Amino acid sequence: MFYRPEDGHGLPHNPFNAIVTPRPIGWISTRSGEGVNNLAPYSFFNGIAYAPPQVMFAGTGAKADQDGTKDSIANIRQTGVFCVNIVEYAARDAMNASSATLPKEVDEFAHAGLEAAECETIACPRVAGAPAALECRLTRIVELPGKANRLVLGEVTGIHLRDDCVRDGRFDVLAYRPLARLGYRDYTHVTSTFELIRPDDQPG
Ligand SMILES: Cc1cc2nc3c(=O)[nH]c(=O)nc-3n(C[C@H](O)[C@H](O)[C@H](O)COP(=O)(O)O)c2cc1C
Repeated sequence: MFYRPEDGHGLPHNPFNAIVTPRPIGWISTRSGEGVNNLAPYSFFNGIAYAPPQVMFAGTGAKADQDGTKDSIANIRQTGVFCVNIVEYAARDAMNASSATLPKEVDEFAHAGLEAAECETIACPRVAGAPAALECRLTRIVELPGKANRLVLGEVTGIHLRDDCVRDGRFDVLAYRPLARLGYRDYTHVTSTFELIRPDDQPG
């Protein structure tokens, strides 16, 4: 089949979410100007540069108690910082709980039953037990076409790796099994890996 998005897909559910998959989940922690800790998953998320390391995530909607966006982006606008926590398979229920739309006064770490730790390089909470966490300074918020679509770009200023996930000098994803988003209500997690040697890396 072929369809133009503006004409509709004619299927029971929008397939777009299932096409660009699997997507990593950026579990974004922030603090409001009033000091309330906030946590929410964003699967429109990725790393986008090595040096300096940079990340992006995108918000696609708004909350009634915020000015045209969700709590995470509203907080980042106020403070200029955020932290990206990596979600392990074991944290799937807490991650899901933290996606609830709650009043901005609610601490979503407490709501999801998670311990918060303080970041090192920015005034921001992070998920204490996460396999990895990226402390970020906002570089830019880009307004995207459509209602309340915004791209948040950040530079990583501090990186936490959980000790048990560093094995033989490598950050070993099999030690924690990263959770990834598929379409609909589906998720997957990484339970195996394999190697490919890039053409430029072939021994001469
Ligand atoms: C796995 C998962 C991925 C999500 N990805 C996004 C996303 O990329 N962008 C978005 O706007 N909302 C996304 N959501 C919904 C937000 O997590 C949800 O709207 C949340 O309440 C926003 O919290 P906040 O207002 O504290 O920022 C996702 C939800 C789940 C469960």
